[in-house]
Amino acid sequence: MFDTIEKEVVKNKKFLSDVKKGLSGDIKSISSKYFYDKTGDEIFQRIMHMEEYYLTNAEFNIFETYKLELAKIFSPDQKPFNLIEFGAGDGLKTKVLLEELLAQEIPFDYVPVDISQNALDQLHGSLDKEMPSLSFRGIQGDYFEVLNQLKEDNNKRNVVLFLGSNIGNFTDQEAETFTSNISDKLNPGDLLLIGVDLKKDPRKILLAYNDPNGITAEFNYNLLRRLNRELGANFDPSTFEHYPTYDPVTGECKSSLLSKKDQEVTIDEEVYHFTEWEPIHTEISRKYSIKQLHNMAVNSGFEVKLDLLDSNQYFVDSIWEIKG
Ligand code: AVI
Repeated sequence: MFDTIEKEVVKNKKFLSDVKKGLSGDIKSISSKYFYDKTGDEIFQRIMHMEEYYLTNAEFNIFETYKLELAKIFSPDQKPFNLIEFGAGDGLKTKVLLEELLAQEIPFDYVPVDISQNALDQLHGSLDKEMPSLSFRGIQGDYFEVLNQLKEDNNKRNVVLFLGSNIGNFTDQEAETFTSNISDKLNPGDLLLIGVDLKKDPRKILLAYNDPNGITAEFNYNLLRRLNRELGANFDPSTFEHYPTYDPVTGECKSSLLSKKDQEVTIDEEVYHFTEWEPIHTEISRKYSIKQLHNMAVNSGFEVKLDLLDSNQYFVDSIWEIKG
């Protein structure tokens, strides 16, 4: 119990110090990882069901179309393996694959890894009902600590799923460090399946982050509301405007909150000044070309095994292998 309270206190201190640091720089920013409190999770679920947010349907289409092939690639010899998923969310896409593996009677453990115990409990609850024979081994914690544990159990193949273009929320440097860290912790023959949004018509991309119903804007405003709720800040979200841009050269879709007027906001007794139209950078959602993605694979110690694209060629699930 005390342990849990202590962890909460440490987490809040880190949240406060990250926010203060982000708002004190020349260009103000708040990390997109702070979007995801309970309300943020709910808004993100709504985003994933939006017509304009094509990413979710595209990846679902890939899983539906290629589930037989995926089962064969993950377990060519029908030997038991670990299917590890980083940040599983509601598992909508993964369920397609889990059902296929169970139908083919391939022995595997499903190991979703998430920072949030609540997310894991919810996923466990729904999978328990829908697939009672599934071997579920949810682990709450840090992605790399989990891989460390699994590396030692090297008589089983590890297959890591990192879906939903979550890699796009990292800078280039962070993305390559992340995939390199994964490759360091895997054994020869292990796989990484990474879901990535591809460069395409810039207007299509921009609309996905600037929907006419303002759900994505709400996702951003919730960040300010969260600072008010959890850090005692006094933001008035109606004085900020959600402003996404997409640059087809860099593939970066960037979101900012622009201050609509000159104003001051107080957080933890410190005053932050915003000039009119000054941005708070909140998120980067990077889009890749297949070539850039393959370079990332090789630079981080993988070999590309296969690319699976949806019928519109919007999105790729790229499968990378550690060579022996
Ligand atoms: C979670 N992540 C991959 C989403 C994205 O597309 O960058 C988050 C998101 N932000 C706005 N809409 C969706």
